[in-house]
This record gives sequence, structure tokens and C-alpha cells, in this order.
Amino acid sequence: MKPDVLVAYPLRPRFMQELEARYTLHRLDLAPDREAVLAQAGPLCTAMVVNGHVAVDAALLDRLPALRLAACSSAGFDLMDLPEMTRRGITLTNTSVALVDDVADMAILLMLAARRRLVQADAYVRSGDWGRQGMFPLTASAAGKRAGIVGLGNIGRAIARRCEAMGLRIGYCGRQPKPGVGYDYFADPAALAAWADILIVATPGGAATRGLVSGAVLTALGPAGTLVNVARGTVVDEAALIAALRDGRIASAGLDVFLNEPQPDPALTALPNVTLYPHHASGTEETRDRMAQLTVENLDAFFAGRPLPTPVN
Ligand code: DGY
Repeated sequence: MKPDVLVAYPLRPRFMQELEARYTLHRLDLAPDREAVLAQAGPLCTAMVVNGHVAVDAALLDRLPALRLAACSSAGFDLMDLPEMTRRGITLTNTSVALVDDVADMAILLMLAARRRLVQADAYVRSGDWGRQGMFPLTASAAGKRAGIVGLGNIGRAIARRCEAMGLRIGYCGRQPKPGVGYDYFADPAALAAWADILIVATPGGAATRGLVSGAVLTALGPAGTLVNVARGTVVDEAALIAALRDGRIASAGLDVFLNEPQPDPALTALPNVTLYPHHASGTEETRDRMAQLTVENLDAFFAGRPLPTPVN
């Protein structure tokens, strides 16, 4: 008999076919009547496929009394009640190792696009303004500047390596200095921002980092500064960011993540000095395949009784 698996978030079709061959799938993601799926399959499922956009809270866990594994096909899991899952003996796995390079690339892309005004320059050429008005206004360099990285985990380090290769100096902040890391260390984001020209946010989301990049941090970054966020919208005080961009307390921002997704604050999207991306830093064919593959590997390891490739708790 095939084990029962609840699907709260679908993987790409070829990986769903793989799962279908080995497991009985209960599709909460497709169900017109979620209650019916939970009532019928909830007590049977020892594993579920999920991603960071699904809230896994005590109310859902109550419906899944046999659950032992939540295989999450994303890096972030800030909508999940991890302490409650741990208390109930449920292991969470994620796929952060699969997306490091694409997210780091996106941080660099947003940094350069914001400082070089790529989106406005593209519109300048397409609209014919170049021919009518002449030279595009001067923009801001990245090389030779100081990049301050908030959160020097795997993604933060990959961003740092790219910045180093581009001739930027690197600083970071975190709970404590990382052993063996030669970059400049700052105990808090405001001190890092005061030192940096470009502040890049790469820390996990969740309660511990909510509002970490405050209005005071943005003011410390200064009127020539650029903020880049590839972490979670909650890490930045978005109202303060809008005010800082509007008042010229910082020069520009490049954002992949927002407080309200998929409809960010219109006051933010109306600003000319912010470059926007639709929370899609890991959205490449290659990375999404690697994330799905790793999710399948975690499920297979769980049912075969092997060590899980990427446990979180
Ligand atoms: C992640 O994997 O957490 C990315 O932000 C995409 O959701």
C-alpha cells in the first residue's frame, strides 16, 4: 500500500508524477472543499508537501494528528509555527541550499538596477526620450563602495562573494561575529548602515527579524544609500522605507519582497527610485527543479527511514 501524503502546495508537474507513482496524494491545494480533504485524509497522512506561503499553524496541525514530516519546497517558512511543530514531533525540511546562487544573483541585479536606474534608462531609450532630450542623467557606481549585509547565512555569504569580486568592501551584522570571517562586523543594523553605502537584507523572516531595518537604520544609510531586500518584506519597516525614498533620506531601493504580496503598497510602486521584482529571486527553471527534487528526496528519505537531506528542526 502506498503511504498517504497531503499536498498543500504543488511541485512542478514532472515531480508530482514522480510522487504519484510512489504515494497516495491528497490534493489540498486543488480541493474546492478543503474541509472534506482534511476530514477524509487528515488522519492518514504522515507527511505533507508545503511551501513558505502556506500557513501551518496549530489549527491545521490539529487536523493532521499522524503528521511527522512537513517537506517545504522553499527556503522561508515564516508562516509556519515551528515551535509547535517541534513540540508535536514533526520535522520540517526546506530547500534553501538549492536557491542560494539565484537569490544572490538577484541581490546583485537589484543593487545594480537601482543604482544605475536600469528600468528608467530602458524606458528612456524605448520612448525616444534619448533622441529628444539627450544624455540620460548620471547614476551611481557600485564598485569601490561598501556593501553591508544584514544576515551572513548561506545567501548572505554568496552575495558577499559576488560583491567582493565586483570590488566592493563587505561588512555584515548578525547576533555575533562569524568565526573565520574577515569582513567588518557590526553588532546592529544601524551601525552597519552608517558604515555602508549599500545595505543588502538577506536574513530569514519571522518574528525575530520583523522591522529590523527601521526608519532609523534607513536614515543612517544616508541620502546616497541603496537598500536591497531579497529576504522577506517583514524585515523592513515598509512605511519608513516609502518615507525615506520619498524624502530623499536614501537614494534608491531594489526589492524582491514586500509586506503585502502580491499587491504591494501603491505608495511604494508609484515611486521612481525603487526597482521592483515580484518575489521571484529563485524563479528559474533550474532552481525550481532543484527545489522540487530536494523536496522529493526528503519525502523519499523519510519513508525509507534514511536521514533527511535538509532538516530544519
Ligand atoms: C523562498 O524559497 O523562501 C523564496 O523566498 C521563494 O518563496
